[in-house]
Amino acid sequence: MKYIYDDLAQKNILITGGAGFIGSNLALYFQQHHPQANVCVFDKFRDDTYFPSGNPTSLGHFKNLLDFRGEVVVGDINTDLDKLKDRDFDYIFHQAAISDTTATDQTLMLETNFEAFVNLCKFAKQRGAMVIYASSAGTYGNSPAPNIVGVGEVPENIYGYSKLQMDIFVRRILEQDSQIPLIGLRYFNVYGEREFYKGKTASMILQLGLQALEHKKVRLFKHGEQLRDFVYIKDVIQANVKAIEARQSGIYNVGSGNARSFNDIIAVLKKHLGDFEVEYIDNPYTFYQNHTQADITLSSECLSYTPRFSLEQGIESYIPEIVRIFETQVRAR
Ligand SMILES: NC(=O)c1ccc[n+]([C@@H]2O[C@H](COP(=O)([O-])OP(=O)(O)OC[C@H]3O[C@@H](n4cnc5c(N)ncnc54)[C@H](O)[C@@H]3O)[C@@H](O)[C@H]2O)c1
Repeated sequence: MKYIYDDLAQKNILITGGAGFIGSNLALYFQQHHPQANVCVFDKFRDDTYFPSGNPTSLGHFKNLLDFRGEVVVGDINTDLDKLKDRDFDYIFHQAAISDTTATDQTLMLETNFEAFVNLCKFAKQRGAMVIYASSAGTYGNSPAPNIVGVGEVPENIYGYSKLQMDIFVRRILEQDSQIPLIGLRYFNVYGEREFYKGKTASMILQLGLQALEHKKVRLFKHGEQLRDFVYIKDVIQANVKAIEARQSGIYNVGSGNARSFNDIIAVLKKHLGDFEVEYIDNPYTFYQNHTQADITLSSECLSYTPRFSLEQGIESYIPEIVRIFETQVRAR
C-alpha cells in the first residue's frame, strides 16, 4: 500500500453517510479511540421525500450523532461534494448510499450508490486519500453460499447491482495500479446500536425484538429456516479500522462467517426476553436471499479481520439497547 497507517492523530477522516447506522458508529468510534483525529461527517440526513413503499429516501438521523463533537457537513453526495472542495482528507469511509434494498428507482439508486462513488474516488485521488467503502452481500444475489468474492456475483435487485458496479469500477482501477489505497467491504446483515432510525429497513434482530416486547408475538416468513450471515456492528467497525492497514487493496467480505436461521434469532431473543408467540406468514417478496454466508478467509488474511461476536454474543450485547428503545421510543408512543 502507498499510504501506510501509523497513527491517526491529526489525521483527517471523512465519513460519508455518517448520520446513518454504520457511519455514526464509525464517527463515534474514532471520537472515542482516536480523539486527536479530525473527524468530519458528510450526510444528506433525511428530508421529506419517500419511496412508494413509504420508506424515507435517505435514512440519516441527527439523533445518531447526539454524542458526536466533530464537524458535520450537510450535503447530497450526488451534487454537493463541492462543499468539501477546499478540504484535505487522509481517510474516507464511504457509507452514504440508498441502503434500502427494497427501493426500485434504478436511476436514483445508480446515481447515488455508483456514480457518486466514482466522483468520490476522483476526489480522493486528488488528495491521496485512502477510500474504504461499503459494498454489500447483495452483490451475490441468491448464489449458493458460502459467498466468495469474485464468485457468483449475480445481484437480484438494483441495490445489489449498484454495489456490484462500485466493485467492478474498483477492480478496473486496481488492475491499472494495485497500489491505489481502495478497500471495498461487503457487509452481510449488520445489526446493532444506532440502527433504530432505519425504521422498516433495520435488522430483523431489532424488529423481532421490538415486536416481542410490544406484542408478545412476532411474525416471521415461513418457516423461519432462511439462513443469513448476521454480523454485529462492533465487528463491522473492526473491519473498517483494520482496513486502514490492509495488506492489499481489494474487496473483502465482512460477515460473522456463519449462516444462522431466523428461528435461531427467535431462540436467542426468547432466552433474554422470555417466551413469546411466533406466527409464520407467507413471504410477499419475489426476491429474497435464502442463504448467505461470508467466506472470510481473505478478509482474515489481508485485513486481520476476526469476528468477535457470534449471534448469541451479539444479541446479548445488544439486548439492553433493544429494551431501552422499546421503553423510550415504542412504549412512549
Ligand atoms: N446495514 C447493513 O446490513 C448493510 C449491509 C450491506 C451494506 N450496507 C451498506 O453500508 C452502508 C451504510 O449502511 P447503513 O446500514 O448505515 O445505512 P443508513 O441508511 O443508516 O446509512 C446511509 C447514510 O447515507 C446517507 N445518504 C443517503 N443518500 C445520501 C446522499 N444522496 N447524499 C448524502 N448522504 C446520503 C443517509 O442519510 C444515511 O445517513 C451503505 O452503503 C449500505 O448500502 C449496509
